[in-house]
Amino acid sequence: MQQAQRLADFPPYVFAAIGRRIARMRREGIDVIRLDIGNPDLPPAPFIVEKLYEAVRQSDTHGYGGYFGQPALRQAMATYYQRRFDVALDPDTQVLPLIGSKEGIFNLALAFVNPGDVVLVPDPGYPTYAGGARVVGGEVVTMPLLAENDFMPDFDAIPAEVAGRAKLLWLNYPNNPTGGVASLEFFRKAVAFATKHNILLCHDAPYVELTYDGYRAPSLLQVPGARQVVIEFNSLSKSYNMAGWRVGMAVGNQDAVAALGKLKSNIDSGLFLAVQAAAAAALTGDQSWLAERNAIYRQRRDIVLEGLTAAGFKARTPQATIYVWAQVPDGFTSAEFAERLLSEQAVSVSPGDAFGVHGEGYVRISLARATERIQEAMARLQRLRY
Ligand SMILES: Cc1ncc(COP(=O)(O)O)c(C=O)c1O
Repeated sequence: MQQAQRLADFPPYVFAAIGRRIARMRREGIDVIRLDIGNPDLPPAPFIVEKLYEAVRQSDTHGYGGYFGQPALRQAMATYYQRRFDVALDPDTQVLPLIGSKEGIFNLALAFVNPGDVVLVPDPGYPTYAGGARVVGGEVVTMPLLAENDFMPDFDAIPAEVAGRAKLLWLNYPNNPTGGVASLEFFRKAVAFATKHNILLCHDAPYVELTYDGYRAPSLLQVPGARQVVIEFNSLSKSYNMAGWRVGMAVGNQDAVAALGKLKSNIDSGLFLAVQAAAAAALTGDQSWLAERNAIYRQRRDIVLEGLTAAGFKARTPQATIYVWAQVPDGFTSAEFAERLLSEQAVSVSPGDAFGVHGEGYVRISLARATERIQEAMARLQRLRY
């Protein structure tokens, strides 16, 4: 069976590979603590689950959900943007529901990138930005996210020739994996750069609701003029603990939204209607439970930071996301350290180089596990001898 070259050349998705290894260890009876993926362990608020039950009991919720989602879901997404960011969106032309944001992020490359077009991606960064671009023959050019720049790319370092050939530029704040956050001032610079070079500025914002210590994350669409050049991706996966439900959205520039919708209508047939109803309830209903949920993540974050400090590691305190980005001890690569921790203490963390070459020297520790398991993982970290 001969795979297409575009797949044969493609690396396996890193978390799928780690997952298989952990499944093998668990079959051998090893109690692995999985802190490598950002898969929320907590459920959504009960009213959201109730809405799903209610919708699924109806006789008319079992057909196709519509290529562009139901008007009520698009309206709920627009209402969320208005309430949360004071950004007005036309629900019919500037909002597109997605089957999780990952599919939209990947599919955007199919909609916009011709072979040889440049796609600018953050490094370290979520692998799907580059994945979509590579599959369609795009040229991936990385923008280093360095600690000394607070994990923000330096637009001045992008050669004019590269910027001239760039079709898409990906940003992601609050940032996975570094935990970095961006100011509106930085977003203004990004819009100016994209406008100057006629680039579609793609902002991936699934962690805007996962914030701590009073920090509130902005939308890139808050920048005046942004909707001329910006498509923003958002997701209920982490914001509302609904990762398995697969609900995301693309919002912003209406030509970009329309192109992605045209592509998707040829690929998938939309979201389950009952999930759409529950997602609309999540976006427009009581939001107070998010603060309680974030307090749990914050406590876990502090447990991890204390554990890391006690073990002699350096890590910044993230104001957002569900990750701690920690420097590995001298003498280890990211992969070597993650391997030692997994094989000797059965704690799985993500090696930083899985997110790009500038992730080397770091590991990413996820807070999406039960607090006692995180405590146990930190106790195991203290026992690691190196
Ligand atoms: C930065 C980033 N973008 C997008 C996604 C995909 O989220 P989903 O497809 O569940 O909406 C993730 C998931 O981990 C992520 O970390």
